[in-house]
Amino acid sequence: MSSDGWWQDAIFYQIYPRSFYDSNGDGEGDLRGVTDNLAYVRDLGVDAVWMSPFYKSPNKDGGYDVSDPRDVDPRHGNLSDAKELFGRAKELGLKIIIDIIPNHFSSEHVWFKAALAAPKGSLERSRFHFHDGKDSKTPPNNWISLFGGSAWTQVEDGQWYLHLFDTSQPDLNWENTQVQADFEKTLRFWLDLGVDGFRIDVAHGLAKENLLQDHFDPQGLSNALRLDVEMDSAERSALLASVPFFDRDGVHDVYRSWRKVFDSYDRDIMAVAEAWVHPPERAIRYVRSDELNQVFNFDLLVSQFDDVELFDCIERTLKLMSGTQASPTWALSNHDTPRLVTRVGAEQARALALFTFGLPGSCYVYQGQELGLPDADLADADRQDPAFIRSKGAQKGRDGARVPLPWAGDVTPFGFTFGKPWLPIPQEWAELTIENQSKNEHSSLMLYHDVISLRKSSLSGTTDFAWTATPNGSGVISFRRGTVEIALNTSDKPVRLKTSGRVLVSSSEPNLVVADEVEIAPRACIWLELSNSAEK
Ligand code: GLC
Ligand code: CA
Repeated sequence: MSSDGWWQDAIFYQIYPRSFYDSNGDGEGDLRGVTDNLAYVRDLGVDAVWMSPFYKSPNKDGGYDVSDPRDVDPRHGNLSDAKELFGRAKELGLKIIIDIIPNHFSSEHVWFKAALAAPKGSLERSRFHFHDGKDSKTPPNNWISLFGGSAWTQVEDGQWYLHLFDTSQPDLNWENTQVQADFEKTLRFWLDLGVDGFRIDVAHGLAKENLLQDHFDPQGLSNALRLDVEMDSAERSALLASVPFFDRDGVHDVYRSWRKVFDSYDRDIMAVAEAWVHPPERAIRYVRSDELNQVFNFDLLVSQFDDVELFDCIERTLKLMSGTQASPTWALSNHDTPRLVTRVGAEQARALALFTFGLPGSCYVYQGQELGLPDADLADADRQDPAFIRSKGAQKGRDGARVPLPWAGDVTPFGFTFGKPWLPIPQEWAELTIENQSKNEHSSLMLYHDVISLRKSSLSGTTDFAWTATPNGSGVISFRRGTVEIALNTSDKPVRLKTSGRVLVSSSEPNLVVADEVEIAPRACIWLELSNSAEK
């Protein structure tokens, strides 16, 4: 594995295909819609695209319930559309990685149908986790699904199968060699079609321990696993350290064998793990030299707009990763969490984007983040997330962050589709369309353009990093990379910074420059070019 692979400081743009662009008017985004509009993504200046799933799927969990991992779902197109997309990406100089979902299949997968038809103890059942209950009405253990309710569903002959997510997502048994072989086949299938790597879904979940034992506090554990439930952090950590189905040593055998598959190609293939692990130090196990290339760091995804919290998270991540050959990853939003603007506020979202684009490592941008989209306020009747359905509304779910992109025009659905969008696009987004923002130099989109191009011109090749201001009560933190200093003001007051630097970009105007001071607006971030004397 090369330690200077293309991904080390790449910016990835996450496409959620169902909500990107609908080319045929059925209201759902599709692969052709992505291919036809990929220039928009290239023009942003990003290096790579991460495609969320487009595989054959009954779509009970936004395509993360796969019924055929080597085919495209008709709602998204077909295999030749996928090939065209990969070809177009190549033409535009974009790398492309795709989701792979090894923790579970859809209950519509032929293997699961065969398992239901086969008797207890059969080979067909051994590819999943089928067990007898404690008695005829009680599941084998008390685990709770991450989407709410029991993690077990009973089948006709009385046995139960495990599903950490929805009933329609039976967990695979990774001790079964057919499961292992099938996934290697899937990896090769897509690599042969031209993809450059994978985002591994629930990468920490493949191995299970104590499958037939109760957990001492299943409800506590289930709350601890949910980001939307507030909990004392010591209590949360203790519970998370007790998860019997995540981050078990067995998962690493899988990634060692996948690495061999990747290395058998004559181009640089990368894989990034979605691994929620506790304590965070365990994350580096996923990027050992014979395993994966990156592991998501989710701290920024949940942290407040707070200098101490941000500093701690960044410092910890940089320290952790410095002991590995992997680069840090930074993500402010994705399809599973509330949108950044909704989580921290509009000005703060701009400031955080500027700040994180300055960090060493690679950045992941979720489609629509560049537009500063908020979560849409959906009616319950429109919601489709299994988390909403299984929890009977107790969890609102993730649909608000998955509303289609507003492209152009003044009236919803803003050019996303000429039909009816699968989730309604708020009319209030008229100002936020790509068309509108492209014409407005102060828009969020233009800010992303500017900062991404600055990152390219002034930071690429720069590996050094040094804090220049750590939390000191003022709310400001800053760091320096090469000749660029990047400062964030998390406070509600303007703050003056002593510097001889020249402002390169700022998340908020204006920045008063007085003699050797620059004023940073409240909740803002600036990039400064230091003069040569300051640099030395
Ligand atoms: C991951 C995906 C999420 C999905 C879950 C189950 O966390 O990001 O969207 O619901 O896995 O596959
Ligand atoms: Ca469509």
